Amino acid sequence: MAGVTLVHRVLHPNPIISLEDHVTRGGGKGLTAALEMEPDAIIERVLASGLRGRGGAGFPVGRKWQTVAQNRMAELGTAVIVNAAEGEPGTFKDRTILRRNPYLVVEGALIAARAVQADLIVFGMKRSFAGEVERVRAAIEEVEDAGWNVGIELSVFEGPDEYLYGEESALLETIDGRFPFPRVVPTFRRGLREAPEDAPIAPALVNNTESLANVPRILARGADWFRTVGTDQSPGTMVCTVTGRTQRHGVGEVLMGTSLRDVIDEIGGGALPGREIKAVMSGVATGIIPGSMLDTPVTYEHLAAIGSGLGSGAFIVFDDTVDMTAVAAGAARFLAIESCGQCSPCKLDGENLAERLLKVTESVATEFDMGVIRKRIGTVADRSRCYLATQQQVLLDSLLKHFPEDFEGHVTNALEPVAFELIAELIDIRGGRAYIDERHRQKQYDWSYAKNDSGTVPVERFVNAVPSWRA
Ligand SMILES: Cc1cc2nc3c(=O)[nH]c(=O)nc-3n(C[C@H](O)[C@H](O)[C@H](O)COP(=O)(O)O)c2cc1C
Ligand code: SF4
Repeated sequence: MAGVTLVHRVLHPNPIISLEDHVTRGGGKGLTAALEMEPDAIIERVLASGLRGRGGAGFPVGRKWQTVAQNRMAELGTAVIVNAAEGEPGTFKDRTILRRNPYLVVEGALIAARAVQADLIVFGMKRSFAGEVERVRAAIEEVEDAGWNVGIELSVFEGPDEYLYGEESALLETIDGRFPFPRVVPTFRRGLREAPEDAPIAPALVNNTESLANVPRILARGADWFRTVGTDQSPGTMVCTVTGRTQRHGVGEVLMGTSLRDVIDEIGGGALPGREIKAVMSGVATGIIPGSMLDTPVTYEHLAAIGSGLGSGAFIVFDDTVDMTAVAAGAARFLAIESCGQCSPCKLDGENLAERLLKVTESVATEFDMGVIRKRIGTVADRSRCYLATQQQVLLDSLLKHFPEDFEGHVTNALEPVAFELIAELIDIRGGRAYIDERHRQKQYDWSYAKNDSGTVPVERFVNAVPSWRA
């Protein structure tokens, strides 16, 4: 068993029950430090810390703040959006952070707002995250009562369950009262619409919940302190979620650079009795990690070097009982359904891939189907507006590359048919067990839950519809 221990830089072991409790444990010092600094100096410190975004892409947080600040429009207020949509399959870390200490995230967002000179903070959450929404609302009220928000308006937006809602430009679209369809224009140029309806658009800063939870201590203790753990390119810690075929499921914070094996052992208790880990999926945004590579350090650079990625630290474990065609079919299905259809290759090639991979699992696919699958993997990301299509490409390509025998076994009928693996958002982790959103089994390509798919892509189906969240 590994000798790693969990750390508690952003994920306190017990829930922080009040703002006072947060302050007792050193909370508020980051904001105090920020209030005594010029906005540029705050950005410099975050830049120097090397903090990278924890929402999936690992983009340097300080650089993003710099860009947003540079695009600021004097006459229009910038907005800070806390991305708490958490829809990546296998992840539950943002909700865990918010359950334990929402004050830390509010404090981080207030510091970000000062850095980019924003006058509005919106928590982008999902209506279905009822417990976390309530906790964040209560924290905001306490923070406002304590006068921490100095001229900054704080609010919570309760959005839909769609996976794309977490994509940053789709998140802004949704808060603006439309459906979660990604934009072409970057968020630092087109943020939120100012009321009234036809007023110009101000820039927005979108950061993940965990990214912002790291900010208060960087301000309070300095960039060098932040870099005392982790690696040069991946300083700090990572809040990881471990689910799948492990002894237990859970969320824990580890030092960047901890081996993947140790993360799985420490948070998930390791493989099930008598079983071996065959592969690990880091969400559905990166390449699969074969079991032979479990000693890889959990950092952006080490995981990228083996053809995968850190993503949002969502490690879904598959053991030697799992047929990887079932995983491929489940992941392809999830991504094809969640695709909005603004880019034809993403939706149509995605559906084609999902259907043919299903045939593979049923042992009715032929070499011809495999040829089409390879071809569509090559085209699915053509002219794509957001990263979802590339996710489909990267993940499926890696599954074919690392587990050709599983695919071959079904095409030659050497393997019995298997059911596809349900890959979808987590709705909870409690009692050491993760609960996947089972409703996704009924979800159609048109985003309905009807018996049959209408054949209309979401972007066309909702063309004249008014979202229920529209003010
Ligand atoms: C399809 C898709 C879904 C995403 N879902 C989430 C999400 O649920 N939460 C999140 O923080 N980022 C999500 N992202 C990443 C965001 O677009 C964005 O990169 C992130 O919020 C930036 O924050 P960070 O720089 O602090 O990581 C998603 C991206 C894509 C392409
Ligand atoms: S790449 Fe796919 S999910 Fe992204 S905007 Fe295009 S169709 Fe929609």
